Amino acid sequence: MGKMSLRRIIPRSQIRRRVKELAAQIRADYSGQRPVFVCVLKGAFVFLADLVRQVGLPLEMDFIVASSYGKGKTSKGQITVLKDVTTDIAGRHVILVDDIIDSGLTLQHLRDHLASRRPASLRVCALLARERVLTAGTAIDYLGFPVPEGFVVGYGIDYAEQHRELPDIYVIEDE
Ligand code: IMP
Ligand code: MG
Repeated sequence: MGKMSLRRIIPRSQIRRRVKELAAQIRADYSGQRPVFVCVLKGAFVFLADLVRQVGLPLEMDFIVASSYGKGKTSKGQITVLKDVTTDIAGRHVILVDDIIDSGLTLQHLRDHLASRRPASLRVCALLARERVLTAGTAIDYLGFPVPEGFVVGYGIDYAEQHRELPDIYVIEDE
């Protein structure tokens, strides 16, 4: 593999606009309720922070950690919950907030994990999802942007713990 470079695919202005739209949809759908946002760490933390500040409803937050890909770029397929939520979500309206849905395996595992606690409802909000999983029919209730293949970083999303701090979203390219 040669030298790697970053190509910006989604600028911060576009992210800001889309986050506002998603927040408005959530505000309309959860009016009169107090949803619990469950953020999948670490990648979704920037998205969650921007999203919750735009929703404008009383809400709660919690955090969950699933086993990651480590330093590689490909999925190992086996997912476990490394840190669980501490909120009692039974009977609550839960919104699972994730950074990027790639194969959809993590999402499926976390959805089943949370559903086993009998929440009143459970929806998924993802900043990004591969076009591939969308055409395969994976249900994402609130989606920021569909993305093509290519390893994505920035706005909370990392490659080997790098680039989370970047305000825009990039794809890594071999030079
Ligand atoms: P999935 O289980 O294959 O859907 O993978 C989900 C997780 O893998 C995401 O929540 C990310 O943490 C990580 N991931 C997948 N694709 C990328 C990428 O392009 N950049 C950074 N992380 C990724
Ligand atoms: Mg993730």
